[in-house]
Amino acid sequence: MITTINERVYALSTKTTTYLFEVLPSGHLEHLYYGPLLPQVTSDEALAFAQKRACECGNTIIYSDDDPDVMLENTPLEMSAEGKGDIREPFIEVIHENGSRTSDFLFQKAEILAKKDPYDTLPGSYGLAGNNHLVITLKDQQADLRLELHYYVYEDEDVICRSSRLINDSDETVTLNRLMSTQLDLTNNDYVMTSFTGSWSNEMNRHDTSLLAGKHEISSFTGTSSSRANPFVMISEKNTSEDYGSCYGMNLIYSGNHYEMAEVNAYGQTHFLSGINPRGFQWVLEPHETFEAPEAVMTYSHEGWSVLSLHMHAFIREHIVRGEWKHKPRPVLLNSWEAYYFQFNEHKLLSLAKKAKQVGIELFVLDDGWFGHRDDDTSSLGDWFVNSKKLPHGLKYFGEKIHELGMDFGLWIEPEMVNVKSTLYQEHPDWTLAIPHTPHSEGRHQRLLDLTRKDVVDHLEKVMSDLFSSAPIDYIKWDMNRIISDAFSPSLEASRQGEVFHRYVLGLYDLMHRLTVKFPHILFEGCAAGGNRFDLGILCFFPQIWASDNTDPICRAQIQENYSYGYPLSVFSAHVSASPNHQTLRQTSLKTRFDVATFAILGYELNLNDLSKNALEEVKQQITWYKQYRTILQEGHFYRTMQKQNDRQEYSWTCVAQDQSCAIGFTLQTLVHPHQPFHTYKARGLDPMKCYSFQNVSHKEDIRRFGDLINSQIPIHIKPDSLTQKVASQFVKLEGEKDYYASLSGASLMYGGICLKTSYTGTGYNENVRLYQDFDSRLYLMKAL
Ligand code: GLA
Repeated sequence: MITTINERVYALSTKTTTYLFEVLPSGHLEHLYYGPLLPQVTSDEALAFAQKRACECGNTIIYSDDDPDVMLENTPLEMSAEGKGDIREPFIEVIHENGSRTSDFLFQKAEILAKKDPYDTLPGSYGLAGNNHLVITLKDQQADLRLELHYYVYEDEDVICRSSRLINDSDETVTLNRLMSTQLDLTNNDYVMTSFTGSWSNEMNRHDTSLLAGKHEISSFTGTSSSRANPFVMISEKNTSEDYGSCYGMNLIYSGNHYEMAEVNAYGQTHFLSGINPRGFQWVLEPHETFEAPEAVMTYSHEGWSVLSLHMHAFIREHIVRGEWKHKPRPVLLNSWEAYYFQFNEHKLLSLAKKAKQVGIELFVLDDGWFGHRDDDTSSLGDWFVNSKKLPHGLKYFGEKIHELGMDFGLWIEPEMVNVKSTLYQEHPDWTLAIPHTPHSEGRHQRLLDLTRKDVVDHLEKVMSDLFSSAPIDYIKWDMNRIISDAFSPSLEASRQGEVFHRYVLGLYDLMHRLTVKFPHILFEGCAAGGNRFDLGILCFFPQIWASDNTDPICRAQIQENYSYGYPLSVFSAHVSASPNHQTLRQTSLKTRFDVATFAILGYELNLNDLSKNALEEVKQQITWYKQYRTILQEGHFYRTMQKQNDRQEYSWTCVAQDQSCAIGFTLQTLVHPHQPFHTYKARGLDPMKCYSFQNVSHKEDIRRFGDLINSQIPIHIKPDSLTQKVASQFVKLEGEKDYYASLSGASLMYGGICLKTSYTGTGYNENVRLYQDFDSRLYLMKAL
């Protein structure tokens, strides 16, 4: 809800939060408050929160003689500009034709609108309820420039989105050096900024940095939102935890270079900005043109990160993800990549597909290597016709075969790229981002097509449309495997080369928009060498994203847990792959690989033909189990419980059905700590008044886990790693421990928790002992009675 008090104070309220700002007599917008819901806001509140300015503050700049108490350097603002005394990082930076960089944007009008107007070029949130769109128009005092600040209030999800537009009403051409999406000025410096940085196969490492003085910047300059630094960040009071503390979550609906910056100024105030990365950015704004900045997403929780995440999850599920697949259960897929890489043929694929069907897979995905002459990654990107050596009967035939087996058919593409070794490149060498007559630096032997050009986007729309119509395709994995270097478009004049990164993203959005509108039934999955473009911009078009090329469950537990701070489980996928894992060579059990992948959109990515009969049976049971609970896992409320207990590194999660009738619990031990027999699992998010049954999902243990210890218990001697041991292990399985309670209140499960069966500590083993060693995990099921 948006309310206006005295025509000067604007209050934006969601179910549990209030955001407040005021128009100062000078025309600047003073930010007053963003925090827990204020039941009613009057001008007294505004007066109470407003900064008390009575006289000149040291050697700061006085804004004007008419406003002798306005010093922009230390006023919390909705928008900071260059040149009038505000020396913090600016929200906007404009260079006028005469070279001046000073801007002086003052309040002109405010409008409350019933709807969110669709942006022309950028994706954004949708589904806003009535009268929840506020537009503040500011006017520059030196040039005819209008700056619009847009606020969208999503009451039920406790989210406020902001964006901005600069409209050039003048007759002069101006250069925009930056236009941010949001600014949040907080009056103290007790905060910790949490960021999620990484690299290929090592996405989403969490870092907590105290904001005490100076600037802390999270940004990407890869041309993508990047695995180097995800645009989702949190700003929390010190000592915030999962269930306690005041915290803000910030994200950007954008897939290119982004920038999140927190600056603590000399007055101990914290100034936060988020938007397109100003590095490498410059936009020439001709008379009567508009530039729009992407939308930023903000939420606040005074009950710690769990609630913050729940807000973000609900918002993304409801107001970002769209189309036919929005709330549809996502199919369990099998992907051919780690099974065969480039070395496959029709026969191999079909035999894999048959096995897949037998274990319950619903979607068979043919990954890289099916087109052109692609036998490795040095050629053929751009030539989107079938590799007839590998698939002699064509794609249509192959897709139909998959359908005949009773599965959907999916295909991998990487439309934005071209190899020099391709027909496309030979025909259109000028269609790539490259500096003419200059050596080019490549990534994965490939170049980026110049999506700043409309004819290139038109070409891709045509080629992809033909491809999608040529075979029975139900799913597309859209990959993007290199970052941008040599950022130059030969089609743009010299003064516009600073627009290349952003224009590339606009071209990409145009292409994604055209294809997703044309093929609404196709389930698109985003991918960029794993999570190199995991962001809300992509999620406006594609309902899910491949979270990381790292399929090791121990790495994945961390990656998935950290994505979960800002993104719901329904938007990231996880696959059970082979052991030893291809990225880390770590060995883990099939159970652990599944238990981790189940807290995401589940898939498999391994050669099922290499699995034993027992393992195949286990996979079959896993998939049957997942299908039964996937609605909870994909659409439920997800909670993290702890990361560290004593010296143990342990993960503990709970996913609760929206109606609290059922919940799935998860625990994972990374490295075993000696002689720690007692572990407690605490559920979260249950109805404290309801009664639930509690049990662990049953599993069997392999006798080989005991190595030569087994000889102390049996009359014969079995050599470790011998054939005899292997054969014995196929026939003799140990039943895992059973933790079972017929009826416990939600309150006991959450507040007391379950002291689980004692863990194996080297002094005995029986059916009441839990083997919970390195890389072991458990799933728990709680059902309301
Ligand atoms: C990227 C993707 C992988 C796989 C390969 C194929 O690395 O992230 O999942 O599709 O490309 O080349």
